[in-house]
Amino acid sequence: MTNRFLSYGRHWIDDDDIAAVAAVLRGEMLTTGPVVEHFEAAIAERVGAKFAVAVNSATSGLHVACLAAGVVAGTRALVPDITFVATANAVHLCGGEAGIVDIDPATIATPPAVWAGALAAAPDTRVVMPVHMAGLAVESAAIRQATAGRIVIEDAAHSFGGMYADGKPVGCGAHADMSVFSFHPVKPVTTGEGGVVVTNDPELARLLRLYRSHGIERGADHMVARDEDATGNSPPPWYYEQQALGLNYRLTDIQAALGLSQLGKLDRFVGRRREIATHYDSRFADLAHVEIPHADPSERARSGLHLYVALVDYAALGTTRRAVAERLKADGVGTQVHYIPVHRQPWHRDRLGTSNADYPGAESYYRRCLTLPLHPGLTDEEVERVVASFRAAVSA
Ligand SMILES: Cc1ncc(COP(=O)(O)O)c(C=O)c1O
Repeated sequence: MTNRFLSYGRHWIDDDDIAAVAAVLRGEMLTTGPVVEHFEAAIAERVGAKFAVAVNSATSGLHVACLAAGVVAGTRALVPDITFVATANAVHLCGGEAGIVDIDPATIATPPAVWAGALAAAPDTRVVMPVHMAGLAVESAAIRQATAGRIVIEDAAHSFGGMYADGKPVGCGAHADMSVFSFHPVKPVTTGEGGVVVTNDPELARLLRLYRSHGIERGADHMVARDEDATGNSPPPWYYEQQALGLNYRLTDIQAALGLSQLGKLDRFVGRRREIATHYDSRFADLAHVEIPHADPSERARSGLHLYVALVDYAALGTTRRAVAERLKADGVGTQVHYIPVHRQPWHRDRLGTSNADYPGAESYYRRCLTLPLHPGLTDEEVERVVASFRAAVSA
């Protein structure tokens, strides 16, 4: 038994992950090469998408997805208030304007009717970006319907390995034009830093690749100029064209080797996360003043289970979130808050001129949310330590 500090999320690395990375380090190519291609093919197959474009973070993925969607100066997009700031920032990095929509604290998601209302108020909106908070895709089919005519970029950073309510894998393209996953160390599988954008649209896939690498096109079929050394339609082997303003968002073969090795463990990792989450659910169900979103067994069964979020009415318990977090920390149990509403962030608030009263759902969620440790490396004893510590901290 150890008394190690239990952080809210943590990677799991085995010797075979290390061996896979070492093999690339001993080889010829370190940066984007055959292993990235292999990784992309494996991801596409896993989620049932036609194309996967690997990038060096989900933040980069959201940025190139917005660029591929045609977000430019003045383009309007909508994002939920409860997400990591990267979702909204991707729009602004393209020069667009991200409007922020409220969420329902019970689902931590924006309901279809709220998307529809926001679109009715801003009909020129071109892009909508649902977020699968904590790993659960909520009402994706209805959101697609409510936002018809817009490009849907789902921020699936939390839900790699998850399923929609209809049983299809998140990322298969059934309910979004592009889906963006994260491979940050606390996510279901990791590449250290990394991400991927998946789509079924060949032109979006081409644009994602273009923006991922300086706006440079290398495909002979898509050349717009002609080099003097071209034979017929075939450009010389060294030839490339910069056709757009892009970035260097490439993933390396070193990272892709880790990702491929981790991908083989995804089901095991998500399975263990599910065991822990459902155990917490059963041990927290009787707690007064505590609500657990996504605790329905059918939701646990299809979620990517990135985060375990509890909603605590601290005032009713005569305490504060800070006091509860400090008490858990004293027991070696880490917590986090996911997330501070985007509308509260000074950069966004000053830009939009919003106030807390405009977002009652997000405010109600934010006041109460607390993330408890959930990752596949937690032992049964450690899970019990979290249970005992949390129960003691929130018992009246
Ligand atoms: C909802 C959401 N979107 C995007 C990101 C950005 O992911 P990355 O760290 O891979 O850039 C995160 C990271 O935590 C996230 O939680």
